[in-house]
Amino acid sequence: MPHRWDPLQLGESDLDEHDPEEQMGSKEKNWVRIESDDRRWLVKVARVDDRDGTVSGEDWAEWLVQHIAGSIGVPTALVRPAFFEGHRATASRSMLRDELDRLIHGNELLSARFPDYDQSIRGENPGYKLSAVRDAIDGIPGPPDLHLPLTAFDTIAGYLMCDALVAGRDRHHENWGVIRRGDERWLAPSFDHGNALGFQERDTRRLNLLTDREFFERWVRRGTSQHFVGRPTLVDLAIAALGMSSPAARGFWMDRLSDFQPENVSDQLDNVPHDVMSEVSRRFVVSLLDTNRRRLLDGYQAAPA
Ligand SMILES: Nc1ncnc2c1ncn2[C@@H]1O[C@H](COP(=O)(O)OP(=O)(O)OP(=O)(O)O)[C@@H](O)[C@H]1O
Ligand SMILES: [Mg+2]
Repeated sequence: MPHRWDPLQLGESDLDEHDPEEQMGSKEKNWVRIESDDRRWLVKVARVDDRDGTVSGEDWAEWLVQHIAGSIGVPTALVRPAFFEGHRATASRSMLRDELDRLIHGNELLSARFPDYDQSIRGENPGYKLSAVRDAIDGIPGPPDLHLPLTAFDTIAGYLMCDALVAGRDRHHENWGVIRRGDERWLAPSFDHGNALGFQERDTRRLNLLTDREFFERWVRRGTSQHFVGRPTLVDLAIAALGMSSPAARGFWMDRLSDFQPENVSDQLDNVPHDVMSEVSRRFVVSLLDTNRRRLLDGYQAAPA
């Protein structure tokens, strides 16, 4: 079912008075309150190029990825487009139900399991490997919204598959986590998807990529993880994670990917206003999804059993 593009109009007066020091990350962002919702929303303003005022596609990327993720079974934070003080933005509804829920980020979990883990590294991290992630979340179940008995690691394999599909390179150790409530813990839904779908490219480059197949293939192959050790391609990383998952998880994720039809994303694309997302960006997104889906399916087939 297509989802409506329905921006929240927000400004300084909506800021959450009790905003804790939640300033992790890099961009301009704020927690706000909206009427008739007991949960906070994190508003992130899309970056603007000072040279010519071009707004990056982080807003449409974050909104679209949540729907693409949903269609392959990956649970995500709920995202709405927004304007903050008139600037293009997205708003992500808190995954925490109340103050008893706490989000523990990957870096904290990795450090708890591996005392030498260096949490301060922002780029490629020698300790950030799939086996370490698996060990750090051993015994923790996937999110309850998954309605499937997958472990946290089985579920992360799906998040990495989704990252590879949408060319999302930003799965660093603070871009996933576990929700803790008292003695209970489970993997948090996936969040922070704005750095995907070629959001940062200019339309002239997108057009060149669409018209030159070789250039396009080179571009997708440069889709590597910026954070996992060895900076593997997103496709290789996802296939390795699936290889380390349970057979049930592998079957589930690969079935969902194989059923996924990139052309159907056009329904979502039709809902994004034309002053927010250009025609060439739309064509680029569909072509990217098609190519990455095929790369994942072929790579998985070719991987040793
Ligand atoms: N829906 C949400 N519910 C609860 N916490 C959230 C949610 N979205 C984001 N956060 C918290 O806010 C932090 C920053 O958000 P997010 O990762 O989306 O922003 P960012 O600026 O894109 O970060 P970066 O680019 O550095 O990864 C997250 O690491 C997480 O702790
Ligand atoms: Mg982040």
